[in-house]
Amino acid sequence: MKQNILRGRDIISMADFSKEDILYILRVADQVKKSNPNRLLSGCLMGSCFFEPSTRTRLSFEAAMKRLGGDVIGFADSSTTSAKKGETLYDSIKIIGQYVDIIVMRHPVDGSARRAAEATDTPIINAGDGSNQHPTQTLLDLYTIKESQKSIDGIHIALVGDLKYGRTAHSLAQALSHFNVRLYFIAPPSLQIPPHIANHVKAKQVKFSFHEKLDDVLPKLDILYMTRIQEERFSDSMEYNRVKDVFRLTLDQLGAVRPSMRILHPLPRVREIDPSIDATPHAYYFQQAQNGLLVRQAVLSLVLGKIE
Ligand code: CP
Repeated sequence: MKQNILRGRDIISMADFSKEDILYILRVADQVKKSNPNRLLSGCLMGSCFFEPSTRTRLSFEAAMKRLGGDVIGFADSSTTSAKKGETLYDSIKIIGQYVDIIVMRHPVDGSARRAAEATDTPIINAGDGSNQHPTQTLLDLYTIKESQKSIDGIHIALVGDLKYGRTAHSLAQALSHFNVRLYFIAPPSLQIPPHIANHVKAKQVKFSFHEKLDDVLPKLDILYMTRIQEERFSDSMEYNRVKDVFRLTLDQLGAVRPSMRILHPLPRVREIDPSIDATPHAYYFQQAQNGLLVRQAVLSLVLGKIE
């Protein structure tokens, strides 16, 4: 196995990762799964800085740290911090970086993770910055794709929903561009994938196409990656109301899909996957969320330099 390329490194954007880096992290996640090294991060302290709501990302990072013997300080509500008094993100992160060994940060502003990384030498893990990036979500998505399909190369995958504001779609499309995949971007025209992401995929010569409807594409898919319409990113509530229910996957749509097709969703879901689908073999989103713990254990162990 190659040397730890994540030791001391910030994890800000999937654009910073090669295919080799990604496969290395996924292999380490498998290694963590097999060895269950429960004291590996003993003595290490994580700052959990969530300026925006989260269930999975925050709690899986905190659980990952604690299950490996490490400790956590932080906040889930920035209104209880000095940000409320007007402290800049730069100053807050500079100080927090003096107290902890690693910082996991979620923030509503695009580019804030890169800005935080400029404030401190303590490694920053971007747990989602606005509508920009969510790199550890992508790592767990890729782990889940590989687990469910045996390989990432060769798959047909549709990203569906809010591809404009959905940071998980941006990170995942960039990461998939390293692989031999066929991509379908399915969204209303106003919520299609941003040109800089499409251009990134194009530059890697990955085949992709744009669609407004899901049903024609469904039978071709190995992975259906559903996403939520990101209500909190819309400045115009009328525009949100126009698109909020544009994709609502129901059981009757799954009649013609491949038996091995799996549905992923970064969650939370609102109305875009009917709960009746949960009991079908196609539903894989809860397993996906569970994999987040494992992949985040691998990421923390690598960045903290406790594993090769
Ligand atoms: N997938 C994800 O980021 O979920 P949370 O917003 O609950 O962290």
